[in-house]
Amino acid sequence: QKYVEEKMEDTGENMDQKNWEKLQSNAALLKFGSKDKKDAPQYDLVFEDQIDFIKSEIMEGQTIESITNPELVKPEDFKEAEREAMARVRMSLPMYQYRQQFLDAVRDYQVLIIEGETGSGKTTQLPQYLHEEGYTRGGKKIGCTQPRRVAAMSVAKRVSDEMFVKLGAEVGYSIRFEDCTTEKTIIKYMTDGMLLREFLTEPDLSSYNVLIIDEAHERTLHTDILFGLVKDISRFRKDLKLIISSATLDAKKFSEFFDGAPILSVPGRRYPVDIFYTKAPEADYLDAAVVTTLQIHVTQPPGDILVFLTGQEEVDAAADILKVRTMGLGTKIKQLVIACIYSTLPSDLQAKIFEPTPPGARKVVLATNIAETSLTIDGIVYVIDPGFCKQKNYNPRTGMESLIVTPISKASAGQRAGRAGRVAPGKCFRLYTAWAYEHELEANNIPEIQRTNLGNVVLVLKSLGINDLIHFDFMDSPPAEALIRALEQLYALGALNDKGELTKMGRRMAEFPLDPTLSKIIMCSEKYGCSEEIVTICSMLSVNNAIFYRPKDKAIHADNARRNFFQPTGDHMTLLNIYNQWRDTDYSTQWCFENFIQHRSMRRARDVRDQLMSLLERVEVEPVSNGSEPIPILKCVTSGFFYNTGKLQRGDTYRTIKNNQSVQIHPTSSIFQVNPRWVIYHELVETTKEYMRCASDINPSWLTEVAPHYYKKKEVEEEVKQKMPKGVGKSQSDR
Ligand code: CDP
Ligand code: MG
Repeated sequence: QKYVEEKMEDTGENMDQKNWEKLQSNAALLKFGSKDKKDAPQYDLVFEDQIDFIKSEIMEGQTIESITNPELVKPEDFKEAEREAMARVRMSLPMYQYRQQFLDAVRDYQVLIIEGETGSGKTTQLPQYLHEEGYTRGGKKIGCTQPRRVAAMSVAKRVSDEMFVKLGAEVGYSIRFEDCTTEKTIIKYMTDGMLLREFLTEPDLSSYNVLIIDEAHERTLHTDILFGLVKDISRFRKDLKLIISSATLDAKKFSEFFDGAPILSVPGRRYPVDIFYTKAPEADYLDAAVVTTLQIHVTQPPGDILVFLTGQEEVDAAADILKVRTMGLGTKIKQLVIACIYSTLPSDLQAKIFEPTPPGARKVVLATNIAETSLTIDGIVYVIDPGFCKQKNYNPRTGMESLIVTPISKASAGQRAGRAGRVAPGKCFRLYTAWAYEHELEANNIPEIQRTNLGNVVLVLKSLGINDLIHFDFMDSPPAEALIRALEQLYALGALNDKGELTKMGRRMAEFPLDPTLSKIIMCSEKYGCSEEIVTICSMLSVNNAIFYRPKDKAIHADNARRNFFQPTGDHMTLLNIYNQWRDTDYSTQWCFENFIQHRSMRRARDVRDQLMSLLERVEVEPVSNGSEPIPILKCVTSGFFYNTGKLQRGDTYRTIKNNQSVQIHPTSSIFQVNPRWVIYHELVETTKEYMRCASDINPSWLTEVAPHYYKKKEVEEEVKQKMPKGVGKSQSDR
């Protein structure tokens, strides 16, 4: 480290830390022909001091032509060598063969559908080709949407590396609560949700010359809405080029939707993949996946393994089990490098999946669906597919959204298997029977628009002046019931009037990239004098799943630490308490560590908070604090969450007030086992039972106060009369 600093001094201004790190990894590139970072430190002192050593290494056959001056290897030489190497990598991608054809088609047609195997270079190359061809002249942008945050970030990073520019300068990304772009940005990767929001500020998207709707086959809610919107603007902005890119064979459907747009198909580099099924169904697919991984590791020739699991908990659990079992085997087996990837994994840890596997070792990547098509991991030869994914489901009747582990579709199974055949002939182990594949899997995934809550999207569309949602140009229409439910909810929240038109309140709510319930409580917070607190609670809710850290060997300490934050009124105030305590330590990392709190999540909550505070300014809500007095804060929360009310029945069972569903307080809640008579909750989650997550004790009289149009006074009073409130519920009713 010391040396790095000295070096930075003598090489002057154009050698910053980043460049230096790059050079260090280049040194490794020279020796190994790869960027194996593990070995990089050997070349820490790469310039004058070790030049002879490096030269001798180069002479041993691993030459890089551009190092022409035998006297001294200069930083520029490394850069030049790296540029050449990168150009070669880029030219080796299947997409490169179609570069000219692609550019011709874009020139000749306004809308183009591109279909190509995952890893063929759609996401990373197409924007660069367009840039090279001059589509960014005059500072106009090329936008490329991704359904997943992680993909947007990682692909932007990759492309900035390929173009040798700093991430966030010419190449940047924009995801919710994180904008890594500048005025210089000409290639912008973003989540589909972010592009949707850009319509609010720039309805004709005039700063873009080209829009690429990537991963179209994923058919996420936002992508589906974008289809309708971009089709519409392409009609009055004839200069705008539109590219719809997809990994599977849906291209025809996209072409039909876009008035018969031409399809460019790019055949992938795909080796054959042998598919194996289990003879009988697996009772425990997680365990089966771990066992299969170890069997492959011990019996199969080299090649990395990709395992598809359904969520972070499974990925972490599988990683733990694998660590323990491989440790038990000691040096009897080769090293198994375990890498994880899921959407909430911090970006520095995500990078691990892209690191080359050390010689002699094998890598296993434990992934969620994200590795199905959004991310390409090189070197995978074996795929383990348990046949499940976590899917969002929405019941418009109850208004309940749940994440349910669901069998994948045949299309997904095909994509997963395909991941094994990118670099060599591969094998895919399906942990289900051939019969189940034939008879139990649907052909295709159901588009998200048909299984999700539409509240936020309807609000955005209404803000764009699209009033007639029934006749919006949907590729596949959402269920009418779900649309009606969304309209009803927005009406109940005061975002729409009785004619279904956007109200002033609704217009301001649409400024927030949040669920309408949360936007509503932010808007109401002014009235209750607690906007500072409400914004904190909303920020904490955005990281709520990952606040506490619970190592198995210190579970008791962790649980105690968590309990110390508990507030008698419930989880909303507990979240506020955690944040405020952290703030009072001046955002200390040490404090998080001592309290078993994930610092990273807190940092993210702080970022989200900063952004929400600046949005407050935009909608002209005063930032005020009420000193964290619970009643006004909870009343304010109730003003958005009055839909989510539970009333205690007997024991620990609640009934949701509007749908009469039987639910319980989540065991991690601060009011678990306290069981106040009335609660509001943030969401329902379904695991073994249906749980209310993030619940707080309320006084039912607030319901008629904050949502008189929704709760009739009599209705609530009768409920109250039936039984006297008990426990904390009583104390609140008395207040
Ligand atoms: O979009 P598509 O699936 O067609 O491919 P891509 O994401 O553009 O990836 C093309 C190639 O870039 C992959 O085969 C990887 O070798 C490489 N890549 C990478 O090394 N790191 C990334 N973060 C993304 C892509
Ligand atoms: Mg892609």
